[in-house]
Amino acid sequence: MEGIEGTGKSTHTAYLAGWLAQQGQQVVTAREPGGTPLGERLRAILLDPGLGSMPPLAEALLMFAARSASIKEVILPALERGAWVVCDRFVESSYAYQAYGRGIPIEHVQTLDRQIVGARRPDLTVVLDAPPELGLSRKADSGNRDRFEQESLQFFERARSGYLQRARAGGARFRIVDASRPLEEVRRELARIASQLLEDASG
Ligand SMILES: Nc1ncnc2c1ncn2[C@@H]1O[C@H](COP(=O)(O)OP(=O)(O)OP(=O)(O)O)[C@@H](O)[C@H]1O
Ligand SMILES: [Mg+2]
Repeated sequence: MEGIEGTGKSTHTAYLAGWLAQQGQQVVTAREPGGTPLGERLRAILLDPGLGSMPPLAEALLMFAARSASIKEVILPALERGAWVVCDRFVESSYAYQAYGRGIPIEHVQTLDRQIVGARRPDLTVVLDAPPELGLSRKADSGNRDRFEQESLQFFERARSGYLQRARAGGARFRIVDASRPLEEVRRELARIASQLLEDASG
């Protein structure tokens, strides 16, 4: 599940995991950055508003370090057992935020992607799409803003457009879902997409 702030990634990761379990599937959730002891410590660093800006490539390397632990400790063991893994953010976040958002060369992200993620790709990447103003307003009441949430609207516009460009160029694995609609409508579309995924996987 991908998308900029407040588009509903965490909400719908939980929904999709519940939906898959209801279908009798084994399911594991992962989140980025985080989900492992190393990842959660890196998350604390990456989101700490007190740190202010950090060199964009350093940020990318920390994201991939957390991702590497998540792949090794959470994702691959779950796939080995035959479980589905629903990730609250994955490698598309690095393209959107560190390349399109921060402006590091996309080749750097591609290199890290090849080294850390490798040939195994998600079966499905959902880009939850909504204007940054909407996502940020959904989160406005939660008070403390993390290091990313303090970024400008322009930053999130670049990240959003990065997600959309890559999703449009990336083929059938990508689905762009309009996340500005009511929760219930987004859920219905996700359930349709997930049904199709299960059908494809069993056929
Ligand atoms: N389609 C929707 N309509 C109305 N409210 C929504 C919708 N989707 C999510 N929300 C609400 O918006 C808030 C943010 O959702 P959520 O935390 O799932 O977003 P997120 O993408 O995980 O954000 P972050 O990038 O900060 O992790 C929550 O309060 C959630 O209930
Ligand atoms: Mg979230």
